[in-house]
Amino acid sequence: MTCILAVDDDHIDLELIRRSFKSEEYSLFSAQNGEEALEKARAIQPDLVILDIMIPGMDGYETCRRLKTDPDIDSVMVLLLSGRGSVEDRLKGYQVHADDYMIKPFDLKELKAKAGTLLRLKQGQDELKSINRRLEAVINAKTRELVEKEREAIFGQLVQGIVHNLKGPLSVVLMKADLSAHCAQDILNAEQDVTDPQRLIIEKILSHQANVMEAVGKIEQLIENLLEKGRFESVDERQDIDLNDLIEREMAFLEADLEFKHDVEKRIDMDPGLPTIKGVYADFSQVVYNMVHNALEAMHEGPDKKLHIRTRFDDSSVNIDFTDSGVGIAPEDLDRIFDPHFTTKAGKFSSDRRNSGGTGLGLFICTRLMETYGATISVKSVPGEGATFTVSIPRDPVKL
Ligand SMILES: Nc1ncnc2c1ncn2[C@@H]1O[C@H](COP(=O)(O)OP(=O)(O)OP(=O)(O)O)[C@@H](O)[C@H]1O
Ligand SMILES: [Mg+2]
Repeated sequence: MTCILAVDDDHIDLELIRRSFKSEEYSLFSAQNGEEALEKARAIQPDLVILDIMIPGMDGYETCRRLKTDPDIDSVMVLLLSGRGSVEDRLKGYQVHADDYMIKPFDLKELKAKAGTLLRLKQGQDELKSINRRLEAVINAKTRELVEKEREAIFGQLVQGIVHNLKGPLSVVLMKADLSAHCAQDILNAEQDVTDPQRLIIEKILSHQANVMEAVGKIEQLIENLLEKGRFESVDERQDIDLNDLIEREMAFLEADLEFKHDVEKRIDMDPGLPTIKGVYADFSQVVYNMVHNALEAMHEGPDKKLHIRTRFDDSSVNIDFTDSGVGIAPEDLDRIFDPHFTTKAGKFSSDRRNSGGTGLGLFICTRLMETYGATISVKSVPGEGATFTVSIPRDPVKL
């Protein structure tokens, strides 16, 4: 309802104003002087103040100036009423930011018409303000998103740089280990100069060197996987993605996790005819990583860790199933696991990495990412026996 505050010490004028706005669409308040007007305006936040200039105490001009500058009063329209109509008087009114000026005695119809115009203006202003606020919120959210992406990109580049620079020193280690193994072998070959105790020591050195070389070989492989993942993920635009390849690469990357590498029985069934899909590589690698990571966490406590990943397709969609033999999901949680911040891992802080607590954002972010492709993530689970998550992507993903 439109709220009007009439300020006048003349009861007859106040009554006239009241009559003009007595319909149900207005709620009318009144004040006799400037101080009272300010106090009421703060309390009722009127849309329009009809303000007589000749009031006791602080005059209408000063009251208007304060109404327009008071931070506790939301932008309000002010219509000044005065018995004096000289140009100077009017100008003085506009100087204190009055929106309109009427000379007494006023015509009730004209007063109503002017008030109507001001109220429409106010409504327009309010709408603009609310659009602005919404726009600001969107811009702020987008800016945060961009800053976050930029930070991730910089961090990604940093990691890539460090990892890349590890390759040099590692190849020196490998080369020197190889060289010293050859030297040791040469000594062993010159049989007549080597005593038995010396032979034993040299054989031990050779075996240690073989261990070093094996370990360095693994680190090199890990670096290669990381670099390759980085190369694919750094392309921030749509490309043809072979999901079989992507999964294989992600699995190689996950091999760095010793539990994943040694304790989990993996079965991977790829449909060799799987069509490629168009998308941003990092969106899909993030989903695969999250699914496998959740599966690992669900299987962590159990003795039997089995992960089955299957790709398949039909006329309309390309699908990936992730089946694990973990704890499964309680029926009452099935609907909630995709909600932001829903986690059953909260508060389990300990030195154990897998129990370090979850944010509950993994599935939410994956769902959001997939929604932009018209893709869905669904789940089936038998508590205590495991869960199957299915990512189903339209063969012709709609948009980004
Ligand atoms: N494979 C799974 N088996 C059993 N429960 C799962 C599985 N995947 C997800 N959940 C359940 O869904 C919840 C939400 O998963 P989500 O990935 O969104 O968050 P989180 O894993 O708890 O935390 P974060 O991903 O931030 O580490 C998990 O806390 C878990 O209860
Ligand atoms: Mg998770």
